[in-house]
Amino acid sequence: MKHLDVSAIKDGSVIDHIDSKSTLKVADILNIRNEEQVVLVGMNLTSKLLGKKGIIKIGGKIIDQKEANKIALIAPNATVNIIKDYEVVKKFKIAVPDVLEGIVKCFNPNCVSNDINVVPKFNVASKNPIKLQCHYCERFMGTQDIQLI
Ligand code: CTP
Repeated sequence: MKHLDVSAIKDGSVIDHIDSKSTLKVADILNIRNEEQVVLVGMNLTSKLLGKKGIIKIGGKIIDQKEANKIALIAPNATVNIIKDYEVVKKFKIAVPDVLEGIVKCFNPNCVSNDINVVPKFNVASKNPIKLQCHYCERFMGTQDIQLI
């Protein structure tokens, strides 16, 4: 069996190939402080693809689409593996969707989407680099403007 830097889990999700510097941001998205299950975090691990990578393993949790959409904005190379009984039963690359609803806040303070009871909505104008256009005020935001909800 091959050597693992961060030990295997029995059931849950593994977020792999995270750009190393974004690892703790991904951890925040996944709200790992509130998880009661086993959580393993590795950073600055060697990766052929990225040079250095981060990895997060959460026992007993299947990550949902909303979490995957948020992760895509800050760790575009990430891969998700779903583990059942120590086997990888599903593997997918995280992808930025064409539309983001209720994920990101508009950086324009006067935008109607910042009012209570309005769900912010963005069309993804470019995926690499990320460029989002607000559905309401039509302003464009880049990676540095992104504030996750
Ligand atoms: N993994 C785990 N627990 C298991 C099985 C796998 O934590 N019971 C983790 C591995 O450590 C790895 C990821 O899930 O980080 C994907 O496993 P696998 O597909 O076996 O590894 P690789 O072939 O290296 O994956 P990739 O091709 O995506 O790099």
